[in-house]
Amino acid sequence: FKKITTQSLQIMKSRGEKISMLTCYDYSMAKILDRSGIDVLLVGDSASNVIAGHETTLPITLDQMIYHAQCVVRGSERALVVVDLPFGSYQSNPEIALASAIRIMKETGAHAVKMEGGLEIIDSIKKIVGAGIPVMGHLGLTPQSIYQFGTYAVRAKEKEEADKLKIDIELLQNAGCFSIVLEKIPAELAREITNTSHVPIIGIGAGPACDGQVLVVHDMLGLTNDFHPKFVRKYLNLEELMGNAVKSYIDDVKSSQFPNEKEGY
Ligand code: KIV
Ligand code: NA
Repeated sequence: FKKITTQSLQIMKSRGEKISMLTCYDYSMAKILDRSGIDVLLVGDSASNVIAGHETTLPITLDQMIYHAQCVVRGSERALVVVDLPFGSYQSNPEIALASAIRIMKETGAHAVKMEGGLEIIDSIKKIVGAGIPVMGHLGLTPQSIYQFGTYAVRAKEKEEADKLKIDIELLQNAGCFSIVLEKIPAELAREITNTSHVPIIGIGAGPACDGQVLVVHDMLGLTNDFHPKFVRKYLNLEELMGNAVKSYIDDVKSSQFPNEKEGY
């Protein structure tokens, strides 16, 4: 695919070709991830945690999400760019939800929005899809509801919650979601859902059967070394590498080894 669209993801699912997705919040990182061939860039509200330093995703605003999305869109050419609707920008009613989604599409040039929840927000999803805006669903551990859950533990381990999850999957598909993220649920449940769903299922902490995988880019690069749930595979220890580079720079400055004659005018 020269340029990834929502249709590309559907074709990839039908071919059994896995979908790669990472979060991204800025221009420089977007360029690197896009040129590396990532399929989907998610401007996640996890920016609230990894960029802004908040404990939860709740404080980040729609204006702040729009800023991050603008930066990511400028840095990417091939990837599908999906933007999280932040907490408070869509839960009140479908009109407000649509207005928020329209702001993201108009002001950023991103290609789709993502929303957490099932039955509770289904009218808003229908309204946004009805306006021609692609919507990605997000079920399982939905971090905007953390104070309702009380914990970041695995969701849908019991039959009752698993049954509700399956009903929500049906609802999201029927409402026209082009894809659904499943976060931190048992691998067997995610397999069952993936095998019966018509739209690509993207997992995070949801086992290997999903049609694709997503991680927070700071986690997989090892920039967030105080956070290591077992679903994160660390491909790099960037915190250590960056720390060593900065120490070398400090040493060079302190010992007057930087800059040298060639590094000046
Ligand atoms: O905001 C985020 O990073 C996400 C992914 C983890 C799915 O929603
Ligand atoms: Na998110």
